[in-house]
Parts: sequence; structure tokens; C-alpha cells
Amino acid sequence: MDGGAKSIWHEGQIIHEGAEATVIEGKWMGKKAVLKLRRPRSYRHPDLDRRLTRQRLSAESRILSRLSSIGFPSPHLIHLDLKNASILMTRIDGATLYDQLKSGDAGAQDLFDLGGLLRRLHEAGISHGDLTTHNAMVSENGIHLIDFGLSRQSPELEHMGLDLQVLNECLRASHSTIIDGIEQVCEGYLNYEQNNSHSEGAEIVIQRFRKITERVRYHG
Ligand SMILES: Nc1ncnc2c1ncn2[C@@H]1O[C@H](COP(=O)(O)OP(=O)(O)OP(=O)(O)O)[C@@H](O)[C@H]1O
Ligand SMILES: [Mg+2]
Repeated sequence: MDGGAKSIWHEGQIIHEGAEATVIEGKWMGKKAVLKLRRPRSYRHPDLDRRLTRQRLSAESRILSRLSSIGFPSPHLIHLDLKNASILMTRIDGATLYDQLKSGDAGAQDLFDLGGLLRRLHEAGISHGDLTTHNAMVSENGIHLIDFGLSRQSPELEHMGLDLQVLNECLRASHSTIIDGIEQVCEGYLNYEQNNSHSEGAEIVIQRFRKITERVRYHG
């Protein structure tokens, strides 16, 4: 991390070492935070890689700021460092929905809540782009979404339908003991209401999701 921000960052343990990113927990001015470092992909040309990395980091930080401004449950951006390909953000105190579903500490109700949260995200004009159970975290005060590197602002209907399809595939592949988990998500999506939400829009997204599943089934 660069100059000023680094001096008040106290680095702790690595909590995730993935193909794309390393995530390190620590404290920033006494606040629980995580540093997400994007690692270079060696198979890509370095210039292209740098450009893609910057794009994803900028997209992620822009969306985190936007989400904080509307009170959406997601990490708050602390600092974006394009030079070192890292984002510093607040830490969500909890476990991934993946782990919680595996251990039985989360179930149908949490999937219903996740559906409501996805509707809220879509109504804010944002699609997630990688909605797996690893990218949702369960904390004391409910579900939070993380990992917005593939998110879009002003998404097309297809991108919103695909959020549900990605989750559907994840639930079927990794959480098949929960029968029809995606139906809980869809119920939550359709039933979530807030002041200016339109149930018509929600139905159109669910219809698109059903079309995508048919398409996938037909083409294998
Ligand atoms: N703000 C956060 N608070 C708590 N844990 C986090 C936070 N951000 C990330 N993590 C943890 O680190 C993991 C990886 O983070 P993230 O999903 O943002 O990276 P990624 O782009 O999926 O990385 P890769 O593709 O390399 O797996 C998450 O699944 C979660 O366990
Ligand atoms: Mg992730």
C-alpha cells in the first residue's frame, strides 16, 4: 500500500489465497479491515493484465462507495491503491454463506433473505456478476455481499437474470442437500418490498432467469 494509508494499517493474517486475489485481515485506525490484493495473471500479457486489473479494482471500489451511500450491507471502501493493485475495505465479521450452509448454521431462511438482498442490489441499478455462496457473508446483523469486481452499473436484464443463474448453479453443485434452494432465493426476490420498488420489474427478472435455465438445459 502507498505512503499515508500504509502507516495506519496493521497487517494480520492471510485469510484467503485464491487464483485472482490474496485477502489479508488487519486493522486500519483500530477498525477491522481487509486488504484485497489482486495478483498478476502470468498467462496474460503484462500490459493487458495491468489494464484489466485496474478496471476491476476501479469498478469494485466505485460500487462499494455507491453501495455504502445507500446503506446496502457490503464492505465500506477505505482506500484504493491502483499502483499496488489493492483495495482496503472494512471487514465483515462473520462466515461465508458457503461455510454456513455446509455446517447447517444457515438454511432456507438465509436463501430467502439473499433473494431480497439481490433484488435490492438490482433496484439500485447494479448487477453482481459473480454471485456464489463464497461472495455472501453472514454476520450478526444479516447477510452482506462482497466481491464486486465483475459488477455492472446500469446492467441489462440478462445480467440480472444471470446473477440468479450463477447462484442456481452454485447451489446445485455445492449445496445439493438443500432441495430447491434457488426457489427460496426467487421467493425472497419476489417478496422483497421497499418504498419505491416495482414488483413488475422483479417478475421480469425472474422470467429472464427461467429462460436462461431453459436455454442452458437445452444446449447442455
Ligand atoms: N470485506 C471482507 N470482510 C471479510 N472477509 C472478506 C472480505 N472480503 C473478502 N473476504 C474473504 O476473502 C475471500 C475472497 O475475497 P473476494 O471474494 O473478494 O476475492 P476473489 O476475487 O473471489 O478472489 P479469488 O478469485 O482469488 O478467489 C472471501 O470469500 C471472504 O472469505
Ligand atoms: Mg470471491
